[in-house]
Amino acid sequence: MTQKVAIVTGAARGIGLSTTDILLAEGYRVAMVDRDGDELTQVAAARENVLAVIRDVSIPSEVEAIIAETMAWGERIDALVNNAGVADFGPIEETTFERWRRVMDTNVDGVFLMSQAAIPALKETQGAIVNIASISGLRASTLRVAYGTSKAAVIQLTKQQAAELGEYNIRANCVCPGPVKTKLSIAVHSQDIINAYHDSIPLNRYGSEREIADVIVFLLSEKASYVTGQIIASDGGFDSTGVGLPALRK
Ligand SMILES: NC(=O)c1ccc[n+]([C@@H]2O[C@H](COP(=O)([O-])OP(=O)(O)OC[C@H]3O[C@@H](n4cnc5c(N)ncnc54)[C@H](O)[C@@H]3O)[C@@H](O)[C@H]2O)c1
Repeated sequence: MTQKVAIVTGAARGIGLSTTDILLAEGYRVAMVDRDGDELTQVAAARENVLAVIRDVSIPSEVEAIIAETMAWGERIDALVNNAGVADFGPIEETTFERWRRVMDTNVDGVFLMSQAAIPALKETQGAIVNIASISGLRASTLRVAYGTSKAAVIQLTKQQAAELGEYNIRANCVCPGPVKTKLSIAVHSQDIINAYHDSIPLNRYGSEREIADVIVFLLSEKASYVTGQIIASDGGFDSTGVGLPALRK
């Protein structure tokens, strides 16, 4: 089989679905992984060259099955996009251990487990990993004790992967999206939060799924063949900006 194969986790909707569509347009076959079976089945049925894998990336036995099913179907893995994520916004004192664990299970354990399990196949293809963190992993903010900490861990995990896997010519990079209107963000972004983001972002708007997915696919591509261990924010300028900008605007 010569056609390249990608695994995209959290592919049923949002940034993962948009990434899947760009990869398909670029000629990849895509194993679409999501634990939301209803949504995944629906979007996968509308696409060719995909495998719907209804599984949970935070459970080690499920991760083994994701890799085995992808290899049985596609015979190779060239790209892994660790995009599945969950958000939870709450004050430190109200963040129970269960809430903390729920975020860490998917956002940190999932990225670790999926990447580890994919290494043998990625060695064969000299493939690439892109992990999805967040601007919340780059800059601290209120209510994000679990989410922000989990995404900071993804950033460091990416650097660890790049350091160790470079000798196999496996690249690992990380994309930090700014706010994008998806089911995940709608659940935690009130109108006040949306307004505050607009004020803090030089481009003065939310990004689109496509604007994040394009950066992910670039990092997977040959055009980024000498790029590894990098943390790229696709965030309208949020991360680079200091205080006082809204007041200075015309
Ligand atoms: N939307 C934003 O504003 C934003 C900003 C920064 C970072 N991100 C990150 O981008 C990624 C994608 O977010 P999105 O906004 O497209 O979210 P989304 O909720 O629209 O999609 C996430 C998908 O991941 C799946 N998923 C969650 N946990 C899973 C698990 N354990 N196993 C398998 N599938 C699982 C969900 O079912 C869902 O389909 C996440 O990692 C998120 O943290 C999003």
